[in-house]
Amino acid sequence: MAEKILIVDDDVETLRLVGLMLERQGYQISAADNGDRAIKKAQNELPNLILLDVMMPDMSGYEVARQLRTSNRTANIPIIMFTAKSQVDDKVEGLEAGADAYLTKPTQPRELLAQVKTLLARTRVAKVIKPEAAPTMIPTRGRTIGILSAKGGLGVSSLATNLAIMIRQLTRESVIVADFKPGSGDIGLSLGFNNPNGVSKLLTKDAATITAGDIQREVLPHQSGIHVLVSPQRPKDAIYNTRIAQFKSIAKLLPNLARFVILDLGSSLPQLTQAIIKDIDEFLVVVEPTPLGAQQTKALIDDMISLGVNKARIRAALVNRQRTSLQLNWNDVQEAIKHPLATIITPAPDLAYKALEVNTPMVLQQPNSLTAEQYTKLASTIIQR
Ligand SMILES: Nc1ncnc2c1ncn2[C@@H]1O[C@H](COP(=O)(O)OP(=O)(O)OP(=O)(O)O)[C@@H](O)[C@H]1O
Ligand SMILES: [Mg+2]
Repeated sequence: MAEKILIVDDDVETLRLVGLMLERQGYQISAADNGDRAIKKAQNELPNLILLDVMMPDMSGYEVARQLRTSNRTANIPIIMFTAKSQVDDKVEGLEAGADAYLTKPTQPRELLAQVKTLLARTRVAKVIKPEAAPTMIPTRGRTIGILSAKGGLGVSSLATNLAIMIRQLTRESVIVADFKPGSGDIGLSLGFNNPNGVSKLLTKDAATITAGDIQREVLPHQSGIHVLVSPQRPKDAIYNTRIAQFKSIAKLLPNLARFVILDLGSSLPQLTQAIIKDIDEFLVVVEPTPLGAQQTKALIDDMISLGVNKARIRAALVNRQRTSLQLNWNDVQEAIKHPLATIITPAPDLAYKALEVNTPMVLQQPNSLTAEQYTKLASTIIQR
């Protein structure tokens, strides 16, 4: 089916000309001549892309973009701002309002078309299963799976997102991946979500008053069919790490919204993780195949057990990010961490790089790759438990 582009401009002549040009390229066109109608059309039709004029009489394009970005349903539709203004400040305002690209009028049709194609290509790969706009309440509690490692940068977030998508693909059940790393979470960024404030609204509430409905409103739908909950992500937002009670409420309520809740807990056992550790059903510990990495992982698993986690509920995943022969093998790692390995994810540095570059997780970027196969196996063992 042709991809749909919503064109928003108060000038009917522009609507007609640009519309015709894009129609000739095979796109399906929808048009709105003011901001109100644009927002309604975007909500109802969920176009693949929006071309948005800035200077309109009732509501400016900036305001339209801001409103589209705050609604879960429309938050991820790519927007190209399209305006006669050409000052740097205007561009900045447009980009801050949530535009993905900015073109100044008069625009060369070729330039416009190139932008349209690039943005559509970027989102197309990620489109696998149409997500529900918001997760619905489920009758029985879902399972919470915490992903963590002994130190940072080992592949926890990649594992969380790719695993979540694979579980969704295999089960078609609801899956939420939640990043519990205020100030340093990167799941939202890696998936291309432009909402740096994350759940800051929830974290500033009285913990006892947070409801599943409040969380439902903050959860973002991703094209893959999973839902995503992101923490505030500016470095200074690390201050939210002290909002323990609020995170605890969120961790307790999330299983009311999805069959599978995957938590990115980052590295080590900070106060936040320790506070919710008993509310998490099972764990996946990421380990790298180095002597020090294995030693630190053994300490992590020991400490988790000393904090009351049942050993049987901990799985270890060997994530090997580097192609080198100087590393521990499967048996060495099991021996060093004194725990069985549930899986290995082998090195795929190019795929991993590309996945972040185009905001498309590895399993979607190359569904036939060895990496996708490894994630499928891991997801099925987790589903079967
Ligand atoms: N199988 C793989 N092969 C090669 N590189 C990988 C693989 N899986 C993930 N990576 C890359 O390793 C890096 C670290 O991964 P990721 O960001 O998921 O780790 P993290 O543990 O969440 O890090 P942080 O502590 O910064 O949150 C990323 O650049 C990611 O793309
Ligand atoms: Mg991470």
